[in-house]
Amino acid sequence: MSLIKFSNFHFRYKGNQEYALNNINLKIESNKFILLAGETGSGKTSLIRCMNGLIPQFYAGYYKGSVEISGKNTTETSISNLSKDIGIVFQNPENQLIAMNVEHEIAFGLENLGISRDIIKERIEEVVKITEIENIMDRAPFEISGGEQQRVAIASILVLEPKVIVLDEPTANLDPFFARKIITLLKKIQIEKKITVIISEHRMDLIVPIVDEIILMKKGGVIAYDDKDKIISDDIFENLNINKPKIYSIFNKLKKRNLFRQNIPISVQDAINLLKTIN
Ligand SMILES: Nc1ncnc2c1ncn2[C@@H]1O[C@H](COP(=O)(O)OP(=O)(O)OP(=O)(O)O)[C@@H](O)[C@H]1O
Ligand SMILES: [Mg+2]
Repeated sequence: MSLIKFSNFHFRYKGNQEYALNNINLKIESNKFILLAGETGSGKTSLIRCMNGLIPQFYAGYYKGSVEISGKNTTETSISNLSKDIGIVFQNPENQLIAMNVEHEIAFGLENLGISRDIIKERIEEVVKITEIENIMDRAPFEISGGEQQRVAIASILVLEPKVIVLDEPTANLDPFFARKIITLLKKIQIEKKITVIISEHRMDLIVPIVDEIILMKKGGVIAYDDKDKIISDDIFENLNINKPKIYSIFNKLKKRNLFRQNIPISVQDAINLLKTIN
């Protein structure tokens, strides 16, 4: 059984003629770090909204086909039940943070699930350590910085111990320093917890070097999904109108001029390694 399975899934928002998602077939397994990339309006956010049942349970529209999370059909399972398996962090976490202080914010989901106090305490201690937010536990969510809000949003999802965490442009409102910190944190969590993390992210220089797989979307469809190395050496990636890692762009041009034959590097370290092999 796949962790996430889309089968011939289509969705059109109410009032729109065009399908925001057009015949999606996708199987995602556990223990992967995955980048979701595509042109603006290609359907990334809509695809994410399907994963916890927001589409079609919250967003009105027309759908056909099915989406399953750990075998649970997202049209037949409540959003709160799905949230045990999948946690989503949307772009503006301040809209998701509702409690009086950070500690309550993190405990909120667990209290709703009726989990005992001792276990809640244990789990909070663990996620607070992982996300390094010990020093802001008694602050109000609106009193902390954007980067800290992202950490709190991640902690309050992590504490539910989902099998998948999905983040929709989590660093869009952060400066490069905090963006790097959040992405590094996500990688650490993915490896430690062996969960699947899916991230829609424009900062390709930061994200591409550390992901295992890439999903590419265009005009409501998934046009490619594979291991990172295969995706970045494919013309589909080259031709897609998205931001590319700078190192990739430079070396892709060199490769086109037949200046080397190896795989195209995507990080400075890769590029150094490659240059060492060229005499
Ligand atoms: N709530 C909504 N109601 C109606 N149409 C919507 C809604 N949300 C998205 N759409 C439409 O669905 C299509 C896909 O949008 P979506 O937000 O999923 O794309 P995206 O890839 O996340 O884009 P971006 O990179 O700009 O975030 C677009 O045509 C968009 O206008
Ligand atoms: Mg989006």
